[in-house]
Amino acid sequence: MQISPRDKNVLVTGGATGIGRAIAEAFSHSGANVFINHLQQQDKIRQIHRVAAIKGDWSADVSNRSAVNAMVADIERQHGNIDILINNAGISNPRPFLETREADWDEVININLKGTVFTSQAVIPGMLKKQAGCIINMVSELGYLGRENFTAYSASKGALITLTRSLAREFAPAIRVNGIAPGPVMTDLLRGEIKNEQDLQKEQDIPLQRIAEPEEIAGTAVFLASDYARFYCGDILSPNGGAMMR
Ligand SMILES: NC(=O)c1ccc[n+]([C@@H]2O[C@H](COP(=O)([O-])OP(=O)(O)OC[C@H]3O[C@@H](n4cnc5c(N)ncnc54)[C@H](O)[C@@H]3O)[C@@H](O)[C@H]2O)c1
Repeated sequence: MQISPRDKNVLVTGGATGIGRAIAEAFSHSGANVFINHLQQQDKIRQIHRVAAIKGDWSADVSNRSAVNAMVADIERQHGNIDILINNAGISNPRPFLETREADWDEVININLKGTVFTSQAVIPGMLKKQAGCIINMVSELGYLGRENFTAYSASKGALITLTRSLAREFAPAIRVNGIAPGPVMTDLLRGEIKNEQDLQKEQDIPLQRIAEPEEIAGTAVFLASDYARFYCGDILSPNGGAMMR
């Protein structure tokens, strides 16, 4: 049983900031070969290179199928097949429902849902050749709960939950597909949405009485990719400080 992802090839989409960055760093500290996908965020990538041994970074918009295919082909040509795919890239684009234009819906669905589809379709053939692989989709507790002013985001994350389960069924036992549905995590995405942290904490009624740090979500990703999680299939783990207890 291989516990750590040492020497495994890991691709993290949206890996230049926030949760993706923490995941990239955690896998790199575990000895994996980490490749980061980003949106021309060279300054952020330089910062990561200072603290973690990243094997390479690729700029590609995950909602652009040909850019994704070119990125994956390039990584595979240079480094071999991807063993672990973390579909993390996402946007929230909050708006009142009646003010959410078709273009807003398209942007959120294209990045959050279709981006995950395109990256998975590019990576899965290589995993099938090896009859081994692991995909982790970054969902959100809003994919279950929904939220006012976050209809497109919540709908995209709800769809990701069923996408995760459908892929898990279609590609088991060779490829394990699971998801992570965090509660609020202190990243640029969240900072852009809230007025202050205390209000959010009160509103969310989080028993652990704080917002998560990105590193706390990264640990869940490393666990799900490890052999300790080898019986997890189509599951969604929810680090949320107890907010979802019912
Ligand atoms: N922060 C939270 O509270 C929270 C909670 C639950 C789920 N999430 C999910 O976690 C993931 C990471 O979010 P985060 O909070 O770290 O925010 P973030 O804004 O720091 O990270 C999102 C990353 O995705 C990248 N990205 C956006 N569009 C892209 C595209 N078209 N192609 C490639 N990359 C793209 C961004 O450049 C950014 O680096 C998202 O999927 C988000 O929905 C976040």
